[in-house]
Amino acid sequence: MSVLQRSKYISQDLTKRTGQPDMLDFDDIQHFLMSRPPARAARYEFLSFRSGVGGRAWLTGLIDKVGTAGAVGSSLLDARWVTVGFTWNGLQTLGVAEASLANFPEEFRQGMAARAGVLGTAGANHPDHWVGGLASPNLHAIVVLFARDVAERERCRGEHGRYVAQCGGVEVLSSLDLEAIPPFDYAHEHFGYRDRLSQPVIEGTGMEPTPGSGPPIKPGEFFLGYPDEEGPAAALPQPEILSRNGSYVAYLRMQEHVGAFRDFLRAHGETPEQQELIAAKLMGRWRSGAPLVLAPDKDDPKLGADSQRSNDFNYAKMDPHGYGCPLGAHIRRMNPRDTATNMNRRKMIRRGGTYGPPLPEGVPDDGIERGIAAFVGCASLVRQFEFAMNVWTNDPNFHELGNERDPIFGTQDGTFDMTIPKRPIRKKIIGLPAFTTIRGGAYFFLPGIKALRYLGSLSDGV
Ligand code: HEM
Repeated sequence: MSVLQRSKYISQDLTKRTGQPDMLDFDDIQHFLMSRPPARAARYEFLSFRSGVGGRAWLTGLIDKVGTAGAVGSSLLDARWVTVGFTWNGLQTLGVAEASLANFPEEFRQGMAARAGVLGTAGANHPDHWVGGLASPNLHAIVVLFARDVAERERCRGEHGRYVAQCGGVEVLSSLDLEAIPPFDYAHEHFGYRDRLSQPVIEGTGMEPTPGSGPPIKPGEFFLGYPDEEGPAAALPQPEILSRNGSYVAYLRMQEHVGAFRDFLRAHGETPEQQELIAAKLMGRWRSGAPLVLAPDKDDPKLGADSQRSNDFNYAKMDPHGYGCPLGAHIRRMNPRDTATNMNRRKMIRRGGTYGPPLPEGVPDDGIERGIAAFVGCASLVRQFEFAMNVWTNDPNFHELGNERDPIFGTQDGTFDMTIPKRPIRKKIIGLPAFTTIRGGAYFFLPGIKALRYLGSLSDGV
């Protein structure tokens, strides 16, 4: 998943591109799924409203701090970026009418914990083990703060803490601090893989997809109220002021077992080169980011760092049998490209970052929790996120593999395998261990700015 890092982000003045009816309303849409600010630190706070009136008071005082797509990249917001989202229970507590609440899609109404059966989050990944109150019905809202650096994050943490204490209407159930992993010149996660290489480009933002990434995706795949890949905008939950310009995000806190991952590489590769190849086969890319389809035998760090080349490949024509990139590798599952149909309706926007200290090379695991805490943004949780979890991640028979799950992120318990196609004899790793554990998750709705004001203006019993 994407990690927090200094990088290019949308710096064009998005506010200039409004006007036509189907064009994105950059002044209303929260910046979160639209841009990737140059943040090196973050804090997520998970909140519970003590009452509707308390929640509305808290929200009303915060709205002006929430970043819009139009403001990001301008001088208005240059050091910290604030996002606000609500669970369905949160919308209910804020006073949204029952008839309106019933309009929201079922999976959002139920919440992520109740969807464990669909998502395949069983065993150690099951919501019974989640931390931070994330599986609790009392989870009502999230505030996501991305900050330029740790000092700015700490300043904002203090400011929000004082605001919460003063307004009294909300309780902080839990929080998570995130920091990018050094070296800061490229984005990567705790296992050492370069991240932030692939991301859908949204039509109407003026961004150009990199070669091989396919055409820009219609905005209705990510924001409610816009045409999507199927045609005109889908029906909006009512009232429109609440739902237009909103998005859904699936939040996941994923612990990474770095010690176990390194032990596994050592157990399956005699030399450092062989170990690197095993790591690449699990992901579908070398840790440098170079894709196996283009660099099947040997790492090519220059290719990994070159955004104009690192996505310029397909599977059906260039690697049909998986001799380069195994059929079950993480990136081949999460974006099967030309080997799947309807791909433009399954795209997801990934945001988030790494938490916990990096584990230095050559030392045993210290038992400290570290991982990725990320968001998957979309217009339909069931069609985009849940499909990816149910079919691509956890269906043992995906690509007719028979007994495999995503090697990086699937629900692994030592009973699933990983096939590495190879001529003349393929290699099969029997009984893959779990390299990651889901420590919590939740579904949030990120409303537009007008919707935030609408929510703040509600009263109990409406
Ligand atoms: C700890 C868990 C995870 C790790 C370590 C991880 C790591 C990575 C890395 C390193 C990449 C390659 C960089 C890139 O293409 O941007 C990647 C790609 C991707 N991941 Fe994950 N990921 C994790 C979980 C997830 C989850 C939960 C989802 C969604 C449900 C997801 C969806 C994707 C997608 C869509 C891609 C891009 C594939 C492509 O377009 O080729 N990942 N991931």
